[in-house]
Amino acid sequence: MPASISTLQNDIDARYARIASRMPPEEWAVHRPLIEGIARFKRERRAVVMAHNYQPIEITHGIADVVGDSLALAQQAAATDADVIVLCGVHFMAETAKILNPGRTVLIPDMAAGCSLASSITAADIRRLRAAHPGVPVVSYVNTSAEVKAESDVCCTSANAVDIVESLPGQEVIFLPDRYLGRHVQAHTRKRLILWDGACEVHERFSAAEVRTFKAPGVRVLAHPECPPEVLAEADFVGSTAAMGGDIRRHRPDRVVLITECSMAGNLAVEFPAVEFTQPCNLCPHMQKITLPKVLRALETLSPAVTLDPAIIAGARRSLDRMLAVGRREAA
Ligand code: 13P
Ligand code: SF4
Repeated sequence: MPASISTLQNDIDARYARIASRMPPEEWAVHRPLIEGIARFKRERRAVVMAHNYQPIEITHGIADVVGDSLALAQQAAATDADVIVLCGVHFMAETAKILNPGRTVLIPDMAAGCSLASSITAADIRRLRAAHPGVPVVSYVNTSAEVKAESDVCCTSANAVDIVESLPGQEVIFLPDRYLGRHVQAHTRKRLILWDGACEVHERFSAAEVRTFKAPGVRVLAHPECPPEVLAEADFVGSTAAMGGDIRRHRPDRVVLITECSMAGNLAVEFPAVEFTQPCNLCPHMQKITLPKVLRALETLSPAVTLDPAIIAGARRSLDRMLAVGRREAA
């Protein structure tokens, strides 16, 4: 066997070794030919695969080169020198990668992988908000379209939202589109936030009563700030998907309840095999659209590729660059 082929096989074997306790060999046998095909195309195309923490383990551990929260994916996209980026996540994440890499090919294996927050607000809505609140800066969550980013002053993620708001001049900030993340940020700043009425269709479904049924002595409850405030009030820790891993690393609990998208538990269970994870299983239908056969096809055909108007890219880049200059304060 030529050295390069045996290296590829060894790499795939090593990937399975990391998740063998979470995936039976019969299931791996189904994924393996696809993972091998993707690995070959990655080499041929000089491609990097970036996956969000909500992707299933056959993607995060089977094929991804970079795994993280929205902020980490944006930071890594800004730093990559690959010719092709395959974004295993949702459309706004692929757009972010394209805005930061206008000269590279950015693929999203399923163009229909949207986000209820991104579709809750348009660029025209931002113009109306600005007219109603002249001079007030606009912070947009990265879970927005490129057009919305281009109309904003600065972007944020769940990992740096408070820092971004605090970095702005004046006492008022327009913060959009997530009303629940907005209320969480409002509780941590003295500035007055003007909010939009968007919500994440996955996190808004959690209820405080449901969380209480999982609580017990010695159990640590971690929640994403896209949840309603009464749900966050039940949590021991509130933070981005990356910060949840950081909290487990610091506290080493025996049992964790995750109040976020369901696939997150699979990824954290690989990293923390001694921890028992339980949760109400709310899946993001958009994240679930990304599958190994679709990734293979995207690399084979170099489509679907994200395309954006250069003027939109320039405006959205300004908002993203301002965010990246502030970075992350929460421990990830
Ligand atoms: P994170 O930035 O915390 O990974 O969250 C992204 C997201 O879409 C949560 O629903
Ligand atoms: Fe959007 Fe919610 Fe899905 Fe995250 S989990 S991508 S915020 S719909």
